[in-house]
Amino acid sequence: MREMIRLRQVGSLRDPTNSAGSSVRFADRAGGQAAHDCAEDVRCSLQLTPRQLPSQYLYDALGSALFDAICELPWYRITRAETRRLAAHRDEIFAHLPGLTRIVELGPGDGRKLRTLVEGTSTPLTAHLIDLSAAALARAAHTLSDVPHVTVVSHQTSFEDGLQTVSDRRSSLSGEAHDGSLIAFLGSNIGNFDPPASAALLGRITASLGRGGSLLIGADLVKPERDLRLAYDDPLGVSAAFNLNVLLRINTELGGSFDLPSFRHRVVWNPRCSRMEMYVVSTKAQRVRIEAIDLDIDLGEGEAIWTESSYKYTAEGLRQQLAGAGFDSVAQWIDPDAAFALTLARARER
Ligand SMILES: C[S@@+](CC[C@H](N)C(=O)[O-])C[C@H]1O[C@@H](n2cnc3c(N)ncnc32)[C@H](O)[C@@H]1O
Repeated sequence: MREMIRLRQVGSLRDPTNSAGSSVRFADRAGGQAAHDCAEDVRCSLQLTPRQLPSQYLYDALGSALFDAICELPWYRITRAETRRLAAHRDEIFAHLPGLTRIVELGPGDGRKLRTLVEGTSTPLTAHLIDLSAAALARAAHTLSDVPHVTVVSHQTSFEDGLQTVSDRRSSLSGEAHDGSLIAFLGSNIGNFDPPASAALLGRITASLGRGGSLLIGADLVKPERDLRLAYDDPLGVSAAFNLNVLLRINTELGGSFDLPSFRHRVVWNPRCSRMEMYVVSTKAQRVRIEAIDLDIDLGEGEAIWTESSYKYTAEGLRQQLAGAGFDSVAQWIDPDAAFALTLARARER
């Protein structure tokens, strides 16, 4: 059981042998199998100790809108910091990427960062957007729709399935030739994966790239606890709404009976693991039924369900992690105000 928790994109993993830490296929809303897998994820995660829920579930239409609102808050500085770095260094980034023909973005959110980046070139590009959230994909495609040199292809699926798809497509088009691909993994999304799972996901990213392929990754750095707490528990309560929405989603989509007013949002800085942890906490002893998976759970007063981890990095530690996954760091730009690192890395020759 411990091993299962360790490999999770807190909280995502249905199958502990899936080393990328994310098995969710529910993004394909049309598929009955997808809905089944989604329900099984919830069943499995809620029965772990401590109880967990896959962090991907945070992003239904309302969750994606709430996340966009979080990005506007003065206390959540990641988005502005990364956008600043992209705008300031995009010429340098493209100078490192001769022959670039396509950008694959994992979890594009509203697509504004990618737009900031691609506005720095006039080279024709195909942008493959991979996200479980239909709402995020629609928003991102709209954001990029009037950029004349960019053709958007959306993939509503998990990171690993999307990587496989775009890798297969590249191989069939170009064989072993130079890979003009850049994979963008922004917003410190990597921080939602625990160390073994992020190593495995980075390995999948490396494997999906051919010779000359590159990765542009944004990672939030360790900073004072007060700043971190405000970023994940803002005074306006937007982060709380974002977090509690996962229970609303289960109620709506899986016939759950979570009594939302009796839950509250909690964040914890875990210095030993260098991560922010996000929980929904039951304020009373209660039984919750989830009809679609025929599951009843008894929650004690004060019992927490772990809904997300956000790991924080050092610039050097991140470069080491990339090296371990088969990348050579080409350049790293630090935003000193927000303590955020944008790193460009190239897949080593294999
Ligand atoms: C924190 S938001 C980040 C958005 C954007 N990258 C940014 O920097 O603002 C994470 C996005 O990744 C998507 N996502 C999270 N886990 C995923 C997974 N395992 N597979 C596919 N998409 C995922 C979510 O739906 C969401 O749109």
